[in-house]
Amino acid sequence: MSTILVTGGAGYIGSHTSVELLNADNKVIVLDNLSNSSKVSVAAVQRLTNRDVEFIEGDIRNEDFLTDLLRAHKVDSVLHFAGLKAVGESVAQPLRYYDNNVQGTMCLLRAMQASSARNLVFSSSATVYGDPATVPITEDFPTGATNPYGQSKLMVEEILQDFHAAVKDTGEWGISILRYFNPVGAHISGQIGEDPNGIPNNLMPYISQVAVGKLPYLSVFGNDYATRDGTGVRDYIHVVDLAKGHLRALENLQRGPKLAIHNLGTGTGYSVLETLKAFEQASGKTIDYQFAQRRPGDIAECYANPERALKELGWQAEFGIERMCEDAWRWQSQYPDGFAS
Ligand code: NAD
Ligand code: UFG
Repeated sequence: MSTILVTGGAGYIGSHTSVELLNADNKVIVLDNLSNSSKVSVAAVQRLTNRDVEFIEGDIRNEDFLTDLLRAHKVDSVLHFAGLKAVGESVAQPLRYYDNNVQGTMCLLRAMQASSARNLVFSSSATVYGDPATVPITEDFPTGATNPYGQSKLMVEEILQDFHAAVKDTGEWGISILRYFNPVGAHISGQIGEDPNGIPNNLMPYISQVAVGKLPYLSVFGNDYATRDGTGVRDYIHVVDLAKGHLRALENLQRGPKLAIHNLGTGTGYSVLETLKAFEQASGKTIDYQFAQRRPGDIAECYANPERALKELGWQAEFGIERMCEDAWRWQSQYPDGFAS
């Protein structure tokens, strides 16, 4: 059993990962400033697992507080989800993004150094591959960012690599960088799920809100990409598969200190129209759509080669697009207004 600090654990991916951690008998402490989430999700996690979670409302940029927390709870491992993630917002407010995502991670690393926590799993993103020359994408593809959010992930990755190089001779530190593709879906209970603020930016939450009648139709951003049907192709991954990937990544660090980088994706891409059709099937609803201009910064195709994660972590995604849509729909139809329902 490990004692694990889950930063950003009230959020979408952190809450689903907490469920898997608790089911595997770990002690979970959630630290979240609730800037993009609700405490209700933590209560739901406890209910679903019948286990206690220590919830602490606070900010990762408060280094002294974080150090005390890690020491007091004798935390050995940190899963670091806390961060801001909206691409458009990052273009408008770059300083806020660098402060939260980069400075926040620096505080966390220093607090870990001042305590005995030595394993860190970091939430990175396929956005660090920029516009890839080819697909599927392997971890050794060149990196590059097209917006401040992506840049903040890349900067943290570089900081983590430099940091690990400096401390690796201690034989103590394990750092795992996980590059998520497009997380979607929800826990099978439909009790926790993605709860975006305002109008969703991302495809699956947008489709879900059209299906439930909150939004009139989906705008499909571009139908002239060089893809099967002209719409953008992405590697959607079920959030529970993603959550399980974190447990395998942590076990990998516990087998021996190292710095590791892994893609977490399914290896299969679906277009916007294919995703919409799959959601119609799962929900039994017709989802209206209109073609619109391409969204600035979007790329045609992005999907993972997930072989390294299989080889080194023994992890691969189990759920396909049908199940992703079924679970997203269960959550959306049970809780049309998310955790405020
Ligand atoms: P989310 O917004 O639901 O969760 C992030 C959580 O972090 C929220 O609960 C928020 O309140 C909290 N938080 C933010 N700043 C904080 C701070 N300074 N101190 C304490 N708590 C703070 O987002 P998510 O989708 O669960 O994403 C989790 C992580 O995964 C993020 O780092 C995100 O960048 C990364 N990621 C997400 C996606 C995606 O599509 N969802 C894709 C790739 C990577
Ligand atoms: N799309 C639409 N209409 C919408 C929303 C999206 O047609 O209303 C299309 C996009 O053009 C794209 C696809 O649906 O072709 C997926 O778009 P998302 O916004 O859901 O996801 P992205 O691939 O653009 O980006 C997401 C996160 C990034 C992250 C990346 C990789 O927003 O932060 O996945 O993990 F970096």
